[in-house]
Order: sequence, then C-alpha cells, then structure tokens
Amino acid sequence: MAEMDFGGVTENVVTRDEFTLKRAKEVLKDEIVAVLGYGVQGPGQGLNMRDNGVNVIIGQRQNSPNWDKAVEDGWVPGETLFSLEEAASRGTIIQYLLSDAGQKDFWPSLLPYLTEGKTLGFSHGFSVTYKELTGVIPPTNVDVVLVAPKGSGLTLRRNFLQDKGINSSFAIFQNFSGKAMDKVLALGIAVGSGYLFETTLQNEVYSDLTGERGVLMGALAGMMEAQYYVLRKNGHSPSESFNETVEELTQSLILLVGEKGMNWMFANCSATAQRGALDWKGRFRDAVAPVFDQLYENVKNGTETKIVLDKNGQPDYKQKLDAELDEMNNMEIWRTGETVRKLRPENWGNDAK
Ligand SMILES: NC(=O)c1ccc[n+]([C@@H]2O[C@H](COP(=O)([O-])OP(=O)(O)OC[C@H]3O[C@@H](n4cnc5c(N)ncnc54)[C@H](OP(=O)(O)O)[C@@H]3O)[C@@H](O)[C@H]2O)c1
Repeated sequence: MAEMDFGGVTENVVTRDEFTLKRAKEVLKDEIVAVLGYGVQGPGQGLNMRDNGVNVIIGQRQNSPNWDKAVEDGWVPGETLFSLEEAASRGTIIQYLLSDAGQKDFWPSLLPYLTEGKTLGFSHGFSVTYKELTGVIPPTNVDVVLVAPKGSGLTLRRNFLQDKGINSSFAIFQNFSGKAMDKVLALGIAVGSGYLFETTLQNEVYSDLTGERGVLMGALAGMMEAQYYVLRKNGHSPSESFNETVEELTQSLILLVGEKGMNWMFANCSATAQRGALDWKGRFRDAVAPVFDQLYENVKNGTETKIVLDKNGQPDYKQKLDAELDEMNNMEIWRTGETVRKLRPENWGNDAK
C-alpha cells in the first residue's frame, strides 16, 4: 500500500504497480469466481476478470434478457454459465452482484452454498449494513469482502478495453481464512480497478447512497432542471437554455474540472464568469447544505434503504421505473438535449464534413 496525501490527510491506496495483475492471478489461481447476476456490474466485472485470465463463471436466472446477453458475451451454458444456485455451488468466491433488492430475495437460497472457507464478495455495503432490513447476515466461517467500483459497470468495461481503470473502494468485513486482504486486493485488481482505496462496508454504502442521490445524479438533475426552467420562464429559447445549463458543462467545463480541478476550470473562464461564480458559489452551497444534511440522515437511519427495498422489490418495479424515466426523458429540457447533441459536428453526416 502507498501512503498518499489527500488535501493534507494521509490515506493508503493500492495501485496496480504495488499489487500487480501477476500477483492477483497467483492469489486467484485455485479459485472459481462465481459472478451472480448479469445486470450492469456483472458483465463489467465478469468480462474483465475473464480477460485477465481469472477462472470465472456466471450465475444468472434463465428466461431473462440478461441470460441471452451472457450467451452473446461468450459465456457457455453448462460450462461457464449456470443457474444462480449451480454457480453458487461451484464458486469458491461468490461475487454477489444481483440488484440490491434481488440480494435480499435470493439470500435464503444462497445461504446453503456459503460453506466453510468460501469468500463472499459484494460491490456495495448495502445488504450487510442494513441487515435488519435485508436479513443478509453471512455465516461466520466465510470471508466477506467488498470491491466497489466507483462507476457504472459499463464504464468499468469500456475503460478496461482502453487500458484505463475505474477507482474502486475495498473493505474486509470478515477475515475467516486470514487471507481476506490478499483476496480482496486480487479481486479489485482483476476486475480492472485503476487504484483501490480502503473503506468499511458501512462507509461505502453511506457515501455511495449520498453521492448518487446528491451531486452525482439527483442534485445534478434537479439543479439543471431548476436553471433551465428559470431561463425558459424568462423568455430564453430551448437551445439557449440548454446550452447555458447542460451542453457547456458536459462538453467543456466539467472536462476541465476532471483534467486539473475546479481552479483550472475557473482559470480558463472569463474574469466576468469568475467574479460571478465566486460570489454565487457560497449562496448555492449554503442553500443546499441543509438538504444534504437531511439526505445523509435519511441514508443513515435506513429510510432510503426501506424505499429501495420496497419499490425495487415489487414485481412490476421495472415497468414503473421505466414510466418515471420516460416522464423525465419527455421533459422539454431533455428533448432539447437530443436535438443539441445531433447538432454536434461529430454527428453530422459525411456530406457536411
Ligand atoms: N450499476 C453499477 O454499475 C454499480 C456500480 C457499483 C456497484 N454496484 C452494485 O453492484 C451490485 C449489482 O448492481 P447492478 O446495478 O449490476 O444490478 P442490476 O443491473 O440491477 O442487476 C440485476 C441482476 O440482478 C438479478 N436479480 C434481480 N432481482 C433478482 C431476484 N429477485 N432474484 C434473482 N436475481 C435477481 C437480475 O436478474 P434478471 O435478469 O433475471 O432480472 C440481474 O442479473 C449492487 O450491489 C450494486 O449496488 C452497481
């Protein structure tokens, strides 16, 4: 592990230089990693591990488009693709990548296969942390670890194919074998992490639920809607409102933040923009800080988890979710986005180039 300074606070991280892929393969050479679930994270982790030379099998319910997708991705029924139960029985490391609501449902069926000495891996601290709500309490004679990529399974795969990584957090919840650290780092490197930083299952789920409900998704969408409709209310055209709210951010400014930080983005904007942004930054921070406090409290006291388990555990959750997503997508702001994206030069036909 390497000690790194994060804004004056020292933390340990593990990079591929310290824990090499060669070492990861050595640690995993006698293991069968059973990836249970072929939704979003399952394909990313499963395919990356397979390409990295790890012995991987997939467990997935049949009669699901995800089973067909697994077959398309080259997993062979009866050889590397099985029912959830069969994969769980064959795996020595069980990477539990069903949806969080699915993990609760399937848990009683998984338990008989969690025999002594096996390893149970999660990519979210959800099921174990909220055990009163999920019933997920691992037996004491298995290792329980977490590797949580900080991004979509799709990006995990795309970045891997471009020889880049996604940062992941890792944690050990139970170390029955005494070898859980080697196993979790090997898994973390094998799934294609850029580097790994240490956490606990509880901290992972608290920060993750806060982040996605907050700046990463919920707050982002809410802030964009608010600004767009203020501009529209004041007579600005859809294209102008969208460009000033979304397009300039995604095509220019946020890329600069990603490249060299917020100050780099500010430094490359006009003095007029800098002055106003510095003045308004604090007002926005103070306006939304109480909302973030409330959000964190709801995460901590399990309110958010109850909602997820209740809503996502319903048989028709997908139809209901799709209807809500459609409603968002049909808003003028996002329909405008479709047109604005078509107008990007890279999307013009060849004749126009
Ligand atoms: N999405 C991400 O990129 C991401 C990122 C970091 C961490 N994670 C974590 O990784 C884990 C997997 O997330 P995900 O987004 O990949 O999940 P997902 O796409 O929602 O996974 C769906 C998978 O779960 C199965 N499933 C759902 N309910 C089930 C049930 N009741 N019984 C059996 N199987 C069921 C589905 O099978 P069917 O096809 O049969 O429905 C499918 O294989 C979660 O803990 C999540 O928090 C996800």
